[in-house]
Amino acid sequence: MKDTEIKKEKKATPLVQVTIDDKKVMVESGSTILDAANQAGIKIPTLCAMPEINHYPGSCRMCVVEVEGMPCLAASCVYPVRDGMVVHTHTERVIKARKTVLELLVSSHPLDCMTCEKNGECDLQDLAYEYGIKESKYGRNEKNLPLDDSNPFILRDLNKCILCRRCVEICNEIQQSKAIGIGFRGKKTEIIAGIGNELGHETNITIGSDENPDYSQCVSCGQCVAVCPVGALTDKAAIGKGRAWEFEKVHTTCNYCGCGCGFDLNIKDGKVVKVTSNADSVVNGINLCVKGRFGNDYIHREDRLKTPLIRKNGKLEPASWEEALQLVSDKFKDIKEKHGSDSLAVLSSAKCTNEENFLLMKFARAVLGTNNVDHCARLCHSATVAGLAQAFGSGAMTNSIKEIANASVIYVTGSNTTENHPIIALEIKKAVTKNGAKLIVADPREIELTKYATLWLRQRPGTDVALFNGLMNVIITEGLEDKGFIKEKTEDYEKMKEIVLKYTPEIVEKLTGVSAEDIKKAARIYAKGPRTSLIYSMGITQHTTGTDNVLSTANIAMLTGNVGKESTGVNPLRGQSNVQGACDLGALPNVYSGYQKVTDPQINEKFSKAWGADLSNQVGLTVVEILNAAYEGKVKGIFVMAENPAMSDPDLNHAREALKKTEFLVVSDMFMTETAEMADVVLPGVSFVEKDGTITNTERRVQRFHKAIEPIGEAKPEWQMISELAQKMGYQMSYNHPSEIMEEIAELTPIYGGMFYPRLEEKGMQWPCLDANHPGTKFLHKGKFSRGKGKFFPVEFREAAELPDEEYPLIFTTGRVLYHFHTGTVTRKSKGLNEVYKEALVEISPQDAKKWSIKDGAMVEVASRRGKIKAKAKVTEKSDDGVVFMSFHFHEAAANLLTNAALDPVAKIPEYKVCAVKIKKVS
Ligand code: FES
Repeated sequence: MKDTEIKKEKKATPLVQVTIDDKKVMVESGSTILDAANQAGIKIPTLCAMPEINHYPGSCRMCVVEVEGMPCLAASCVYPVRDGMVVHTHTERVIKARKTVLELLVSSHPLDCMTCEKNGECDLQDLAYEYGIKESKYGRNEKNLPLDDSNPFILRDLNKCILCRRCVEICNEIQQSKAIGIGFRGKKTEIIAGIGNELGHETNITIGSDENPDYSQCVSCGQCVAVCPVGALTDKAAIGKGRAWEFEKVHTTCNYCGCGCGFDLNIKDGKVVKVTSNADSVVNGINLCVKGRFGNDYIHREDRLKTPLIRKNGKLEPASWEEALQLVSDKFKDIKEKHGSDSLAVLSSAKCTNEENFLLMKFARAVLGTNNVDHCARLCHSATVAGLAQAFGSGAMTNSIKEIANASVIYVTGSNTTENHPIIALEIKKAVTKNGAKLIVADPREIELTKYATLWLRQRPGTDVALFNGLMNVIITEGLEDKGFIKEKTEDYEKMKEIVLKYTPEIVEKLTGVSAEDIKKAARIYAKGPRTSLIYSMGITQHTTGTDNVLSTANIAMLTGNVGKESTGVNPLRGQSNVQGACDLGALPNVYSGYQKVTDPQINEKFSKAWGADLSNQVGLTVVEILNAAYEGKVKGIFVMAENPAMSDPDLNHAREALKKTEFLVVSDMFMTETAEMADVVLPGVSFVEKDGTITNTERRVQRFHKAIEPIGEAKPEWQMISELAQKMGYQMSYNHPSEIMEEIAELTPIYGGMFYPRLEEKGMQWPCLDANHPGTKFLHKGKFSRGKGKFFPVEFREAAELPDEEYPLIFTTGRVLYHFHTGTVTRKSKGLNEVYKEALVEISPQDAKKWSIKDGAMVEVASRRGKIKAKAKVTEKSDDGVVFMSFHFHEAAANLLTNAALDPVAKIPEYKVCAVKIKKVS
């Protein structure tokens, strides 16, 4: 699309003048009277309308106003303005009508405010007080309906429901779960859920599945709780734990996925009682997913680590901080002296703050003297960093989350967005259902988004390069490429074209299993856009061809001119809350913060000078290489900061063996993880609510964690323990607050140059943010690419490292489910999340199930060349024939015992997404 066309689309809406309570206001034509009043700062009471839901139900009539020239009162939330309209919002007639509405509501509403959970934040209570409603002339008409206690997180009391329909609107129009609706008629009208009118859902639910119609389609996001104006929907876990006015609200950022949602922690007596939405949250508004809203109860679990532990006679025993840090210091110094700096390594953490990641890499480089620093981004998105940096000059999401809703085409590949990045999925669904975007899903597994897709390309796992080349082949042969963009802004197009022309749709059909016809259709839709946004995640990166896959995403985006413009781009979705930040802050073996190379003499000198230490210019080892070196006895001491490689690494038996062989292993964490159990020293870390700091979400937005409670027991934030350890080892590292670390980051890191705490408070800032006056960057590569010209890379298709054969005839692939996170370290400790999703499941297609005589729910053994596990089978069409899927959250059936540690040669990311397995029924 040319820029002029975009301007045409964004033609300004004409303004009209309205007078409200003698105040003149200019508003866009098409606005409602309520919108105009809000703009004029005039408050009209509402019980159903609220800005956060798409369109107002117009059901409560509290918002009535008098419009001059109109015989009846108008519901201001639905009545549109016209030029010259004169409105009165508080006449006698209006007030009488509102009182009647309130009396009718109160007549059927229980008068149990003294014990109601909503007391103090109930809109009906507030309005009844404001309008002086003490009793109702309509008598008492209470409903006497049973409570719905079936959902693990939400209690529904329909006796208190005022039928405002906010919950129905948000569930159907924004969350789009369609779990609740309006049932029955007249006096009997009720909000209903599922066939049994219960909000509870099936355990071990598969999102988007219609397999069991007896259950509601509720995903427990709790948006309904967030919008309920009365006490009809409440957060079960918080019942009886405090009144509205007793809570201190602390705004912070969620610490689950890379969306970076904001919410309020509700604190009473030093404890987090619940999480509530905060409409000012820049990424998500009031929307949250089940983990963010209800999955933080692990914070106050009794089994939190409360003191340091030291292994004595084979057992981990409580110790003081002084004793523990002295021991770590002595051992690390000893190993360094005897075996050299590179016999030590640190694993940083995508769950920790930017400041902590910066400090740990500084500790590794300036104190231990090694570049052996890496973290789990190696295992999820190192291919993104390597691929996009080569093609564009920057390895991050090019555009912003909010831009997705305005894309005209969205191509989602290797991302089960609904379960992994639920809030970003809402933007995709909005784009499709509200704004008319076309969605193409390329995924071997049937995911919820395929329901919204114009086209679903079901490629064989591991054939993404071939599929991209096929799409580009059609675009080029049909002349749909953006010639101007290619000429002006890119290089090496001809080299890429030469390779791509070999991949005709017919050849690609044979390689991928996607029909030539669908390849052609998808290519045309992609190229014609005009604003095409490509979204991908670990289904693209976790392959031995991960970097090639990412280069292919860059190729197709440049080929069609979809980079450097709003609502376009290449958008990798980062898995953990701070994967982006941990990479940005240099928790990688080849770069300091801001991707400044350790091998660049000038950069090396800059950091050496700033930190007063001689820094190594040798690229260090990656995660898998560190563990391999530990296995071989070359790496002897490892500090693991809040990560769990004994669950997250591929080929776990080998990884666990390596950790066992490590001479001195130090782990910091909140809980006794599988890795901590093997450690010589365990240091108790804190949760995200017990510390200040910042994290960077997937759209490069740096946002604040605000400390809301004191650390549990003797636990300490990692930034503090690292500083103290460094001091013990004789290096001066002392900060009073993480904001001081951020000042050091800004000084040494150009892309974070203007990131200072006061600027980050409200909405955070997106990098690059070069100095104190820089506004941050909404989308990258505007005008030109970060590296100058965008570079095309010719990429040939290569098969996965291990393919099915006679002995191991199935492809094994892994991913996450909505209700759990990563290695389950915290979600397995959340009561409700475990109630909903209790156990590991092996998804297998009906045809394969028949072939191996496996019934749904039967125990099966899945084995690869590296290990075997037992779990329950789930027979589902979601899995393609020949493909078995498992999540990797469950230690009792750890999927990574099976996965292959074969590495992408450039990014060194292991091939989690494809390996060969066999399956059999067991009793
Ligand atoms: S707020 Fe307008 S009808 Fe309810």
